[in-house]
Amino acid sequence: MLNFTFHNPTRIHFGEGQIKAIGAEIPANSRILVTYGGGSIKKNEVYDQVKSALENHTWFEFSGIEPNPIYDTLIKALDLIKAHDIDYLLAVGGGSVVDGTKFIAAAALFEGEDPWDIVTKQAPISSALPIGAVLTLPATGSETNTGAVVTRNGNKLPFSNPLVRPQFAVLDPSVTLTLSDRQISNGVVDAFVHTMEQYLTFPVNAKVQDRMAEGLLLTLIEEGPKALNADTKKDLEVRANIMWSATLALNGLIGAGVPQDWATHMIGHELTGGYGIDHARTLSIVLPGVMKIRRNEKREKLLQYASRVWEINDGDEQSRIDAAIQKTEQFFHTMDVPTRLSHVGIERSEIEGIIEKLTAHGMVKLGEKRDITPDVSHQILTAAL
Ligand code: NZQ
Ligand code: ZN
Repeated sequence: MLNFTFHNPTRIHFGEGQIKAIGAEIPANSRILVTYGGGSIKKNEVYDQVKSALENHTWFEFSGIEPNPIYDTLIKALDLIKAHDIDYLLAVGGGSVVDGTKFIAAAALFEGEDPWDIVTKQAPISSALPIGAVLTLPATGSETNTGAVVTRNGNKLPFSNPLVRPQFAVLDPSVTLTLSDRQISNGVVDAFVHTMEQYLTFPVNAKVQDRMAEGLLLTLIEEGPKALNADTKKDLEVRANIMWSATLALNGLIGAGVPQDWATHMIGHELTGGYGIDHARTLSIVLPGVMKIRRNEKREKLLQYASRVWEINDGDEQSRIDAAIQKTEQFFHTMDVPTRLSHVGIERSEIEGIIEKLTAHGMVKLGEKRDITPDVSHQILTAAL
């Protein structure tokens, strides 16, 4: 196992009816900005629950944070923050709202000239507004982690800082019942791939992390399809298991003390930035390509994955690896997400342009050994055609 320091101080309120906990979480004299997206929270009464939980607080609102949050939108919140002396942000929504709010929190107190430097130059952040989160879409883990992804002019870029980790997060599985099938699928697949990015590397004898990761993968494989099936889609226990899996997949725990990959995500961000493809759907296209092209480098963990997650124990090594890749793709098909570039209309001739953008974004040494060069990324996308 590798050395690590683990600290995740986000307080979690899990379960039905927990939105009321935000009243006690946010200091009474705070001036709060409630941030949200395109209005789903008004249709499913989450907004009303937040409103009644904050009845004794002073609060304002900022709406319109879009999926894959856009810099030009987020930056508009800064005027509101100044005008109303805001000192606390409450993000109510999916990963995009939480991520966008993280950027706003850092930009509001940024001492440099251009807040975009936070993302492009990893400019130092010395303070940020405190954040709380009411999560409505289990997927990203953003509600308890330090990361965020922001888009500007088709450039989708991540940043990470402990100062933007939410102080608390409300996870009420009942608010996920209004998700469309597409968003349910996206969430399950995103959480699945987060787990894979921290698991499918090379062995460091981290038994607990491995078995926790396998537990998350098995849970998502078991519960994900149930959330799409008409007979079970309203089952709150299914939603609870998915929601907790998604948080644990990216709260830092399974990634502590193990190598991490993230090539699938970085290549995937180019597909969202350039073509507007949903985040999770880029991952279901890229991951099988990564598994195929990195089958030698990932051999031991691929075999472990095959055996422990899919119970594939017969045949020679190569055929077990092939079968594990096939099972992964089948699972993605069950979740109704694409697994090939051709499924989303991207052709061979476009790969070069995608690689150019990846290179321009500095993503030239990806993977757990930093040896996924643009050439290897090219091979990965070619394998995904
Ligand atoms: O905007 P509203 O109206 O709220 O609608 C949203 C949005 O259209 C809707 N939605 C959310 N909760 C709902 C709901 N509709 C009905 N009922 C509900 N309860 O779902 C749509 C998609 O929401 P979005 O927040 O974009 O989805 P997701 O949570 O998948 O977030 C994706 C973003 O997170 C980033 C992605 O790159 C992408 O930008 N990620 C953030 C990470 C992190 N911070 O650690 C890691 C991830 O790998 C990922 O990169
Ligand atoms: Zn993701």
